[in-house]
Amino acid sequence: MDKKYIVANWKMKPETAGKVTEILSRADDALGEVGEQRELSLIFCPPFVFLDEVAGAIRQSHLLHEAELGAQDVAIRGEGALTGEVSGPQLVQSGVRYVIVGHSERRYQLGEDDGTVNRKLHVALQSGLVPIVCVGEPKRDGSWEEALREQVRGTFQGLERDSIGRCLVAYEPVWAISTNPNAEPDTPESALESINFVRSVLAENAEPKVLYGGSVDPGNVAAFLSPEGIDGVLVGGASVRPDDFASILRQAAALQ
Ligand code: PGA
Repeated sequence: MDKKYIVANWKMKPETAGKVTEILSRADDALGEVGEQRELSLIFCPPFVFLDEVAGAIRQSHLLHEAELGAQDVAIRGEGALTGEVSGPQLVQSGVRYVIVGHSERRYQLGEDDGTVNRKLHVALQSGLVPIVCVGEPKRDGSWEEALREQVRGTFQGLERDSIGRCLVAYEPVWAISTNPNAEPDTPESALESINFVRSVLAENAEPKVLYGGSVDPGNVAAFLSPEGIDGVLVGGASVRPDDFASILRQAAALQ
């Protein structure tokens, strides 16, 4: 089985540095128990204020060989005066390798349209970061394919095949994200169908890795990681619950 990606999107959590330590030490224990036989790529995306903390903890743990740092956002320009923003080059200097762009919370709660996401995507690539590009339809109704096609096209506009191939794409149907009222996870079968649809909309032969996200937890992670066509998972809520995340790691490692 190819290496699977696990992206931990901590969103605006946890509240304290002490909790950061708890999440990471539980994850460290879980991977320590599993031993060296694992083909995982782990990406921690904490809030900016905890990047250093997470980098330090990774260096002193069993996570060292498979964990890397990701940010949750990047400025739309590589330099200049933009109050409150963090630039791509600054992220790289801080040891960040990945950055999430186009998350649905930024699209729908903070007003980022496809054009903004597209600018961030270009900046991330120019800065040498690996973008984790989130796409997903808001509703699963009769026009979901149309909505998803339009969003994918707008998001990746102007990118060459090679650049698309450098991205990780996260298919996250908005209706399945745990913070939505009545959210329930997609099924692995239908997630795979949608992921294949996303692949078909992207430039021919671009072949990015595509992950699934939306209410992934210890109860369903093995099912989402099993199909060949799903290259990993993006985990939100469960990634800041120390026991749940440790369980996710143990199960992911056992699938190898
Ligand atoms: P969830 O979040 O795992 O809590 O559904 C996923 C996400 O929003 O990235």
